[in-house]
Amino acid sequence: MIHVSQLLVLLFRMDALSNVTGISAVAIPEQKVVDGQTFPLVLTPSADGKSRDIESWCQWVRDNVPVLREALLMYGAVLFRGFPIKEASEFDAFVKSFGYEAFPYVGGAAPRKVIVGDVFTANEAPPSELIPYHHEMAQSPSFPKVLFFNCDVAPPSGGETPLVLSNATYRTMQEKEPGFVERLEKEGVCYTRVLPDGDDPLSPIGRGWQSTYLTDDKETAEAKARAQGTKFEWLPNGCMKTTTKVLPGVRVDGRTGKKTWFNSIIAAYLGWKDSRNDPTKAVTFPNGEPMSVEVMKTLEKVLDDLSVRCKWEKGDVMMVDNRQALHARRSFVPPRRILACLCEDV
Ligand code: FE2
Repeated sequence: MIHVSQLLVLLFRMDALSNVTGISAVAIPEQKVVDGQTFPLVLTPSADGKSRDIESWCQWVRDNVPVLREALLMYGAVLFRGFPIKEASEFDAFVKSFGYEAFPYVGGAAPRKVIVGDVFTANEAPPSELIPYHHEMAQSPSFPKVLFFNCDVAPPSGGETPLVLSNATYRTMQEKEPGFVERLEKEGVCYTRVLPDGDDPLSPIGRGWQSTYLTDDKETAEAKARAQGTKFEWLPNGCMKTTTKVLPGVRVDGRTGKKTWFNSIIAAYLGWKDSRNDPTKAVTFPNGEPMSVEVMKTLEKVLDDLSVRCKWEKGDVMMVDNRQALHARRSFVPPRRILACLCEDV
């Protein structure tokens, strides 16, 4: 729950949005205050905006793009709640109104289906699977800058998409594990994953090499892997074992100057687990040394303590700055359907 004084800070920071009619910033119980800043920002139609249709809201977004982008930079994530977004095509139109380029999902790990336009299903891993914290595609040399999630079917229980501010994660890990963080910053990490021959919907990292590289041709897949600096090996069963080049474990966000926990360490260590992959070997230092079990336990706890878990409501759109915030998925009781759009930005 946020306090009145914190809400005043929130409203003060909403100055830029105060000239924007039709919306209000509201408080929800799950929000947290990090460094004096509310996380995430929650916007909802105000009384005079409630009768607007989706077309009108798309125009509203187009009219207010600079302010909305500024809000995303300032807060790290913005939840749009109570807007009339009932189906995937409306979500697609809403996202397109922000004017970002769509980001092609090449090299990602999750099995996904295209629904309409640039809308995918979010990771379709089984309901019991927890998807650990990650920046989207942090294990790839190029990654989407802005993510949009839309709740099409809210689960009866669980299934939140928890968010954590990455700079807060970095700072807390530096306090608790300074030696590890120093090495991570100096050396970076590599990720190893065995991609199945064809998608495996039973695995949270079951994207086959064909849909990972958008081809059925091995040589084309190899060329795309090479272009990303990824080493590969074909296994006798047709699977493709890939190891990334050395990737940074900590990055400076050039827009804010803040250091961020921009990596997929915990995602790989906990989540890259299926019949083909051993998660304890999925992320290593460049010399092949695995992550320390103790440090990984600390990291898990730090992320959990800092996380915000907004309960999904039908029609919600969560806009996430992928350079500033990590996200995860909690296990759930079905049905649940969360849609996603990945976007490029400068
Ligand atoms: Fe993700």
